[in-house]
Parts: sequence; C-alpha cells; structure tokens
Amino acid sequence: MEQTFDAEVLVIGAGIAGLVTALSLTSKEVTLLCKGSLGSEASTAWAQGGIAAAMSSDDSPGDHCRDTLAVAGGIANETIAALVAKHGRDCIQTLIDLGVLFDHNDGQLSLRKEAAHSHRRVVHANGDSTGKEIMRALTLKVRQSPHITVLENSEAIDLLVSDGCVAGSAIYHEGQTHLLFAEATVLATGGIGQIYSATTNPLAATGDGLAIAARAGASLKDLEFVQFHPTALDVDAIPRPLATEALRGEGAHLVNETGERFMLSEHALAELAPRDILARGIWNQINQGHKCYLDTRQSLGHLFLEEFPTVFGHCKAHGIDPVKELIPVAPAVHYHMGGITTDKQGRTSLPGLWACGEVACTGLHGANRLASNSLLEAVVFAKRIVEDILKKGFNPHVTRNFNADDFHFPTESVGEAEAVLELQSLNYRHIGLCRDEGGLTTLICHLEGLERRYPSPSQRLKNIFLCSRLVATSALRRRESRGSHYRSDYPTSSPDYAVPTTMYIGE
Ligand code: FAD
Ligand code: SIN
Repeated sequence: MEQTFDAEVLVIGAGIAGLVTALSLTSKEVTLLCKGSLGSEASTAWAQGGIAAAMSSDDSPGDHCRDTLAVAGGIANETIAALVAKHGRDCIQTLIDLGVLFDHNDGQLSLRKEAAHSHRRVVHANGDSTGKEIMRALTLKVRQSPHITVLENSEAIDLLVSDGCVAGSAIYHEGQTHLLFAEATVLATGGIGQIYSATTNPLAATGDGLAIAARAGASLKDLEFVQFHPTALDVDAIPRPLATEALRGEGAHLVNETGERFMLSEHALAELAPRDILARGIWNQINQGHKCYLDTRQSLGHLFLEEFPTVFGHCKAHGIDPVKELIPVAPAVHYHMGGITTDKQGRTSLPGLWACGEVACTGLHGANRLASNSLLEAVVFAKRIVEDILKKGFNPHVTRNFNADDFHFPTESVGEAEAVLELQSLNYRHIGLCRDEGGLTTLICHLEGLERRYPSPSQRLKNIFLCSRLVATSALRRRESRGSHYRSDYPTSSPDYAVPTTMYIGE
C-alpha cells in the first residue's frame, strides 16, 4: 500500500550539500532522502585533498577568486567566484562548528597546496581522508537532530510538478512508489561520473538529479564541461581510486616509463598546471604508447603513509608500494562542472526547487574547476539556500493532485548490465577528453539504438541514457575548445562561444 509523506522541506541527497542544508534548517521539519544508507554512496565521503579557503595571512579571498577564474576558460561567473571565495573562512568555521576535525600544525589549521592555487589554502583532515571525516561529523549530527527525518535506501524518481511549480517528489521506498509532498525541495544528488567507464565517482553517481530536473523542465547549464582528474590510479578497479592532487602539491613528479618529466615541456607550472591541461598532457602520453606514473619517492618517501594514508591504502590494495615504486596513473572522469542552472540563492528555474552541490551549476567553475572548490561551493550554497527558503521560498499551498500509480520505478531487465557497460565505454570515448563531430554523432546514433533495444529501461538506465544525451548534445553544439571541452575538429577557443551554454530537455 503506497503512502504519502509530508515535509516542510525535502532534501534529496546526503552528501555535503544535502547534509549541510538539512542541518542548517533547524526551525523546519526536514525529510532527507538518500539512495543508500546514510553516509554511503556520496562522492563527499571519498574527498581527499580538502577544501579551499583563503585562511593564511598572506592569502586573500581576492587571490582565491582570481585563481578560480584563471583556470575556468573565461566563462565562469565572476560575481559567484567572488562570493564563494569571500565565504571560505566562514564555511570552514561552519564545518568546525558541526564537529569536523581538521588537521592542525602548531595550533593553526594545516594548509596544503594544490594545482593552480597561488597559495597554500587547502584545509584537510586525517591527511587525505577529508571527506570521510566530514561525513563522520555531519551524519552524526543528523542522527542527533530531531528536525530531520532520514529516509535511507530511498530514491527520488521524478519531481511532482504542477503548473510549473515543484511540490515534492515521487520516491521509491521499501519496494514501492510513494508521493512525498514538500513546500520546498532541494536537489543535492551529486554528479554523473557513472555514465562513464572510468571514473573516480561512487556507483550512485548516475546523474539522477540532473535527469530528474531535466524531465521536470528545469534550465540546465554548461553540460559539456566534464572534468577528468589527471591522476586516478591506473589499475583494474571500478570506480578508479584517486591519487590526490595534494601529492603533486607536496612535490610529486609525473614521469613516463623513460623517466621523462613530460609536463615540463607542456606548461610553465608543470605538475601544478590546471587540471584540464594536465589530464590532456597525460592522455597524449598514453596515446603515444607511454605509461604515466607519479613519482613520490623523493618528495615524500617514508612520510607517505603518515601524510596520505588513503592513497597509501589504495596503492597497497593494488600491490604498489609508493615508498619504493612508481604509482601508475591515468585520467578518469571526476566532476561535472555543468548541471541544473541556479542563481545566487541556489534557486533553479522552477519555483519550489533549489539545487546544491555538484548537481547544480552556479557558474563558479566555468569550463574547468579549480581543485578543492567543490566542497566549498556546496557549503556556501547550502547556507544561501537555507537563507532563501527561510526568508520567502516556501510554497505552503502545495498541490496534491498526483497519483503514485503515474510514477514507476522500473527495475533492471535482462541484458541491461551489458547495455550500461557498452554506453559507459562509448561515453568515455566520445564525450571524454577529446571530442569531435563524428564521434559525437556516432554516440547519439548508438544511444538511439540502445533506447530502441531497451524501450522500458530501469530507472538507472533511463537516467544514464538521458544524461549521456544531454552531455553529447551540449558538446556537439560547442564548436570550439575551452577548458575541459576539447574538440579535435575545433582545437582553439572562439569568441563566438565565450558564454555559458543553457539548454532545456527536448530543445
Ligand atoms: P555527493 O557527495 O555525491 O552526494 C550525493 C548524494 O545524493 C548521495 O547521498 C547519493 O546517494 C544521493 N543520491 C543520488 N541520487 C539519488 C536519488 N535518486 N535519490 C536519493 N538520493 C540520491 N572536491 C573537493 O572540493 N575537494 C576534494 O578533495 C575532493 N576530492 C574528491 C575525491 C573523489 C574520489 C571524488 C569522487 C570527488 C572529489 N571531490 C573533491 C569532488 C567532491 O567530493 C564532490 O563534488 C562533492 O562531494 C559533491 O557533493 P554533493 O553533496 O553534491 O554530492
Ligand atoms: C584531489 O584531492 O585531488 C581532489 C580534489 C578535488 O577534486 O577538488
């Protein structure tokens, strides 16, 4: 028997964006939905490097803002970049107040350097286990917060939309479809990494929020900009374990099998060049038949385990001893700069719906994200969304004219697992680091074939189909190269495209 649930605020997703939003709405009844158990299946839990914030006396929000814009391919939103940088210090304090224990040196927050940052400004926890510590503290607080009801192992299927306004979500919970009405709904479902075959993202990152918002008719932005992390471990694992950028910040070198530091000839900052440039540098080496490695033997040596216990554990699990050996690395899909269009308050184009974290596109990252700006952006916008909802965002007259039978949660059919693998590989090839018109149109044709072969896809496949199509269509439209979007048929940037891309489903 299906039920209806009611919430003043529905938060969909329990990574840093959803958790900080839910925790900050202390005067409201919040329902927090998570696909897995609380604390699992979120990219946040795997964050290594940390959170960027101008904390040291020689740093400033102005410098942080300049660094953010410098790598963003000229299309980031300057107002948003200034706003996020300005709130760096408060956000670190918010997390400390929520119980997060960051690493300290001589009584001061310990700050690391990462690529394309002009200062040491990355705050971290337990060396490189920043996300694990954030999730420990925030999920503990959620469990202690009577204003939050947590629905675990529960999945948002589609938004309840009436007259263009969002009134909650249809959800799959305990084997059935239910309706969950809410006066305000916040999507915080994370990224799309799992539409690709090689990604650092957890299995839940199938672009659900993006697909859900697209089907509801929300405005979407910059979908073609997908960031590859240059140094995922090149091992046989799904998802691919990460070797944090902070290793290079501490002096690790990138070399090929001949020992050549190939980035020296690619960019003045060598291993600390912006991510898009590094990822393509490694990709080019691999395409020329080389193998690429991180060499931490000189820079870290025996300090590796103490400073980077997470990466050390990943290496050991794959038979690599980073104290004595080179670490094999290759780029893997890591982060989606594009997403649901949001404004300064985190509002989407649909009244009643806000979006926060990786699923949103605030304009901060433009065509390429500066390392460790994602966690910060999530906290800044979670707080702004809460402010907005409390001020005037409520829709107390939510329409209830919906029927749970109109929403389905199709489960996986025979052969679907192979279809997913096929599409993930096609996506890696055609909407990966190097794109061209032929590959993009081939991908779209394949997608249409797959959609014909699986006319009733599972919810997961349906979302993967839609996200793949959205990214491919956006990539096809941008006939130039900019940041993470590299077109071999249009290898330079064009002033005609020096603006973000906005689209709606069905355009
Ligand atoms: P997530 O943390 O991914 O959480 C999404 C939540 O939504 C999960 O709870 C998921 O289960 C849930 N969900 C998804 N679909 C549904 C659905 N249909 N219904 C209900 N719930 C759903 N960024 C940095 O700034 N610094 C770093 O050091 C850093 N390191 C990283 C390391 C790794 C390995 C990875 C993968 C990413 C890293 N990033 C880092 C990026 C950053 O971690 C993410 O962008 C950020 O954590 C996203 O937070 P989020 O809350 O938006 O989403
Ligand atoms: C890393 O630690 O290298 C990841 C940082 C990020 O994605 O911002």
